[in-house]
Amino acid sequence: MSGIYIHIPFCKKRCHYCDFYKSVDLLQVDSFLAALSQEIFLRKDYLNERIISTIYFGGGTPSILSAKQLCEILDLIRTTYTVLSEAEITMEANPDDLSAEYLKEIKSIGINRLSIGIQSFSDKDLIFMGRRHSAMQAIEAVKMSQSVGFENISIDLIYGIPGMSVKQWKENLQQAFQLNVQHLSAYHLTFHKGTQFWKQLTKGYIREIDEDESIIQFETLIEEAKKNDFIHYEISNFALDGFFSRHNTSYWNQTEYLGLGPSAHSYNKATRFWNVSSVKKYLQHIDNKTIAGRFETLSINDKFNDYLLTRLRTCWGISKNQLLQQFGSKYFQYFEQKIIHYISLGFIEESNDNVYITKKGLFILDSIIEELFYV
Ligand SMILES: C[S@@+](CC[C@H](N)C(=O)[O-])C[C@H]1O[C@@H](n2cnc3c(N)ncnc32)[C@H](O)[C@@H]1O
Ligand code: SF4
Repeated sequence: MSGIYIHIPFCKKRCHYCDFYKSVDLLQVDSFLAALSQEIFLRKDYLNERIISTIYFGGGTPSILSAKQLCEILDLIRTTYTVLSEAEITMEANPDDLSAEYLKEIKSIGINRLSIGIQSFSDKDLIFMGRRHSAMQAIEAVKMSQSVGFENISIDLIYGIPGMSVKQWKENLQQAFQLNVQHLSAYHLTFHKGTQFWKQLTKGYIREIDEDESIIQFETLIEEAKKNDFIHYEISNFALDGFFSRHNTSYWNQTEYLGLGPSAHSYNKATRFWNVSSVKKYLQHIDNKTIAGRFETLSINDKFNDYLLTRLRTCWGISKNQLLQQFGSKYFQYFEQKIIHYISLGFIEESNDNVYITKKGLFILDSIIEELFYV
């Protein structure tokens, strides 16, 4: 089974924190859609396994597209690949794009999972982050989605926002769980070069929250999720049993996926491909029936490092048996040696065949992974 990710690289405006690739030139949407249709066809041999079990519209803002435009993309994918009838089809959506009529339409074309970017239930935070919607609009968007029959809804929240207290973060979480959604993605605010927030940070107009405060907010997230029966299945992802994102889980399980659209990224077990992060270059190349991007053949080291990087972020951890089977005794012994130190510090634990990151280890996951990499 494989997955398809489609990057819709347009936003009506740029949020102050976001560095995902997007253009605000909506006049390019039609040319982009024509090029995307060609890419769907041109890339059909990238995946070894042509049966598609998940499709994910991400962005940018997929909800700027009409249901008709989304339907045309899906139809083309369905005629070019074999898409399972029970495939998970997710769409990221901004609250202010959602009306009952639009939601009914996108449901009728087969979208069966929504990922709504709410970010915060505080109007003050939303204005600060440059969002286009209010807290009330976000709540209404979730309720409307439920009333038209969506039964698999995820929401995105951001914590660690300057000026946000632990109490306010807890209230945000309580509001999220009160909405009876099935899935929550919660990200610590990151400051990326080139964003509005980055400029404000470097000029000293805003500052990052203290590390201790970050840890308390992350702990609050874990506690509140647990109280509401949400399983912490990946560092930033929580869901009720049976509602883990099948698409994202496949990334963490080394399943093949094809990424379409500017800046999308593909993986077929042997190679990775990064589409160019430019609508202009994407369009120019498609005219010549080529895909602009960067290609990399994966070495065994890359595959081993990818395995560690993805699996340690999840609740399934690393299977030592799988590690041995897949990479052989050299990598297995290297791994066994390396983890001793982290086990003694309580950052990593072993249980039968599996190796997991502990709650304490989660706070310094990136540095642990870097140390475990085989170079
Ligand atoms: C690519 S965005 C697309 C979602 C959609 N366009 C929206 O804004 O609702 C996916 C998610 O990444 C998260 N995100 C983006 N930039 C972030 C940052 N700098 N720090 C933390 N989370 C971020 C947000 O929660 C956002 O909803
Ligand atoms: S958070 Fe979403 S709407 Fe805002 S700039 Fe990023 S992709 Fe666009």
